[in-house]
Amino acid sequence: MVVPRIGKQSLCGIIGFAKSSKASLRCPEILRDGLRRLEYRGYDSAGIAVLSQGLLTIVKDVGSVEKIIESPGFSMLDGGVAIGHTRWATHGKPSKDNAHPHTDCRKRIAVVHNGIIENYMDLKRLLLEEGHVFTSETDTEVIAHLIEHFKSLGEKSFEAFKKAVSMLRGSYALAVIDVDEPDKIFFARNVSPLLIGLGSGVNFVSSDLASFVKYTNRVVVLMDGELGYISASDVHLELGGKPVDISSRIRVVELDAQSIEKGGFHHYMAKEIFEQPYALAQTFSALQTQNLSEVLKILAEARRVYIVGAGTSYHASLLGAIAFKRFLGLEAEALISSEFKVVSRAIKWGDVVIGVSQSGETIDTLLALREAREKGAKTVALVNNPFSTIARESDYVISMRAGPEIAVAATKTFTTQVLTLLYIVARLAEFIGSIDVDYRALIQGLKISHEVAQNILKASVEICKAIATELARKQSAYYLGRVFGVPIAMEGALKLKEIAYIHAEAYPAGESKHGPIALIENGFPVIFIYLGFLDELLESNVEEMKARGAYIITVAQGDTTLSSIARYSNTIIKMPKAPLEARLVTYAIPLQLIAYYTSIMKGLDPDKPRNLAKTVTVI
Ligand code: F6R
Repeated sequence: MVVPRIGKQSLCGIIGFAKSSKASLRCPEILRDGLRRLEYRGYDSAGIAVLSQGLLTIVKDVGSVEKIIESPGFSMLDGGVAIGHTRWATHGKPSKDNAHPHTDCRKRIAVVHNGIIENYMDLKRLLLEEGHVFTSETDTEVIAHLIEHFKSLGEKSFEAFKKAVSMLRGSYALAVIDVDEPDKIFFARNVSPLLIGLGSGVNFVSSDLASFVKYTNRVVVLMDGELGYISASDVHLELGGKPVDISSRIRVVELDAQSIEKGGFHHYMAKEIFEQPYALAQTFSALQTQNLSEVLKILAEARRVYIVGAGTSYHASLLGAIAFKRFLGLEAEALISSEFKVVSRAIKWGDVVIGVSQSGETIDTLLALREAREKGAKTVALVNNPFSTIARESDYVISMRAGPEIAVAATKTFTTQVLTLLYIVARLAEFIGSIDVDYRALIQGLKISHEVAQNILKASVEICKAIATELARKQSAYYLGRVFGVPIAMEGALKLKEIAYIHAEAYPAGESKHGPIALIENGFPVIFIYLGFLDELLESNVEEMKARGAYIITVAQGDTTLSSIARYSNTIIKMPKAPLEARLVTYAIPLQLIAYYTSIMKGLDPDKPRNLAKTVTVI
């Protein structure tokens, strides 16, 4: 395998298809489905390029993909070869000119790109000297002009494409069409993910399986350094100038088109919150069928375990590390992936680094794992996407079955990550013969967590809507917990910030009196997570907050006898009785609901929070 350069990436989505004239699929439908599926990756602008009868048609604009889909003439597009793009701006502001596809001077070559061309300024300078005229501020546009340059020296299209690619430094997933090769899409991958989809009478190239899964589930995951072209009937792939046989690389993936529909919900986020019982049950049974013996062995022998992740995945990592320490007494530390450098000198041969990532593509986590491996640690990927780069590059892979998560805010992947980490702890307790942990009870508790999730969803929707009505009027909120409650509080705060744009912070409750309490005034919302585990430690913190006028919301088991809850809470979200491990898995659910309904009350779109993208592949 070619070891990729470590580069920066951007967060765009790309789709391309080449179909035969006999295929019944229509160009506008394929593009519409593909762009909608990709929009979660980036959504400040979008565009398409279609080749038909020797003509290149380009439609692009700033704003959502719907603008492109609804543009005049879109439904009449009739091409056998087309590419599309959704953008999350890195080089150049969101604007029509900066939207992809980008073209050469003669508008015969169109390029869509996900990634960052690090040497684009040098290339642009050379091309400008040669007289090329640029129309955007993007790094991507140099690619179209470079191909044009090599063609002007007499190269055929594909050769010119290959020469252009060889000059690029950085990260790229590319799809290129050229009027002179009207049946083909050229593609190349380095660092940024890219897949080929093999249909009947149609082939696809895309950054995301979801964009074409409606048409085929036969895929080839491209490796760094690979390039080639697709036509309606053919896939040509090369690495380092040598042809690559794809027949042994074709995989049939289990992802049905329905699982990426909204299924009657207004938003993907709601669908994903409500399908948590299913995601948990699926993940639990998938864990039971995975052979974890090697992973358990390296964990049992590890000097130290690091669990790394970003955002929501970091919160799950924190909870996992607490479980390693509290249940098993093992040396475990959770780290934000982008801060992995803090410990890199401390990593020793035999340490284990678990990378937690829904997408398996988050660059910070990928880089942390690469560094860990270089230092001699063993790496374990805990991912929702077994075909991802993180899965491919890790020594061991543990795969969740949460199903595709489309909404930008992670929900079902948090609870399934927590379930998975606790399952590993339980199996490790069994493996090392721990006398402190009843691993059978732990596994049993995890097994029923999907039922607990179902009961929570049934019981807490109305109360969370009522809380959202209150929160929608507020500027800030605190989320407080202790021990395991801290990462859950952090996850609740992140959700509220992300999709309801309310400033929210989480603290260990005991820490709140060391500064944060200064902000408390009449009506300031404070959400306490009573996990039924060391709850008594929260009592005085609740009292302190109430005494200063805080509006207290508590998440607590309905049967709790703690007087602070009844005495000081303005609102109680009553949780069903459940074993600790099932509570750890499920207590984020009401917090997700609160954030979701608050976003709705504020008239926002929870699926597309501003400035964010689903898969963060920028350093
Ligand atoms: C928050 C959220 C992000 C991701 C983070 C890591 O709702 O979705 O914070 O959790 O970007 O992503 P993955 O898990 O794909 O590595």
